[in-house]
Amino acid sequence: MSRTIKIAHIGDLHFWHLPRNPFVLLNKRVLGVGNLIVGGRARRFRQELAPQLVARLNDSSFHAHLFSGDFSTTSLHHEFGKAFDHFSSIPDTIGFYSVPGNHDCYITSELSAPTFSRGLTDRFNPETAISLVELAPQLGLLRINATTSNGLSAHGRITEQHLAFLSQHQETIIRDLKQLIVLCHFPPEDPSGVLRHDRGPQLLNARPFIETLSPLPMPVLWLHGHHHYRWLFGSPTAPNLTYLNGGAPLMRFGGRAPDLGFHEVEFSPDAPVLVRTHYTGAHHKDWKVVENRLPKSGEFIDLQKLHQ
Ligand SMILES: [Fe+2]
Ligand SMILES: [Fe+2]
Repeated sequence: MSRTIKIAHIGDLHFWHLPRNPFVLLNKRVLGVGNLIVGGRARRFRQELAPQLVARLNDSSFHAHLFSGDFSTTSLHHEFGKAFDHFSSIPDTIGFYSVPGNHDCYITSELSAPTFSRGLTDRFNPETAISLVELAPQLGLLRINATTSNGLSAHGRITEQHLAFLSQHQETIIRDLKQLIVLCHFPPEDPSGVLRHDRGPQLLNARPFIETLSPLPMPVLWLHGHHHYRWLFGSPTAPNLTYLNGGAPLMRFGGRAPDLGFHEVEFSPDAPVLVRTHYTGAHHKDWKVVENRLPKSGEFIDLQKLHQ
């Protein structure tokens, strides 16, 4: 009898902290902290609601939690500390997998000695640029750390190392897996006309990576964040590839309180993968769970609007 596996996908948390020491601001953080104060991120990201999200994750008996990055806002030790304090209560028996987002590697020097791993523990460490693990028999997880030294912009990049790894493991993936999950902060393709402030492609050099995924005989679910908006989007160029945007669970949206939303992915070797969304009403107590239809190639499903 085959075993059904349920995993959670959590998007951009953006824990924040306003530093008292002005010397930590002598870099890109000036922009980040300015954005916190002037741009109102501190009001928009309600980190005091994190315990309700953690409690829901703990209550739901997931096999693993997958975090698609942007734990922090300006890569400060305090911000990672908050993430660690909240999520370290999750039992060790539950798998914990994450990749960093651009906000977790906010200044260039931290790309070589990432605050991302220093501020948390090995449990949160992305370890390498790319790795493949079997979450369960026939269910693979490909983790991609695509953060890069990019000056003032926010994009990620697929490197030769990522491409070489995928090519080297192609045979194993085809032989052993019925479903592949990619966990990467950045999406290689976005639905057109959806983003209010379109920043252009956010994962550079992604085309050869998609072209290697496309001929694989199994469905590929690409879990990402970065755009703070929950959606499902069928790749217009690779029919077996579906994007799942985790959104930002702690973010106020459209003048409303955060709904603490995250996704559940259910895998069984003998059935198509199922994607559900967990989210709360205004008082953060009455959790709702909605099963989502998977999109066709090129189709966009606006989960942020559907779940109001
Ligand atoms: Fe983000
Ligand atoms: Fe991001």
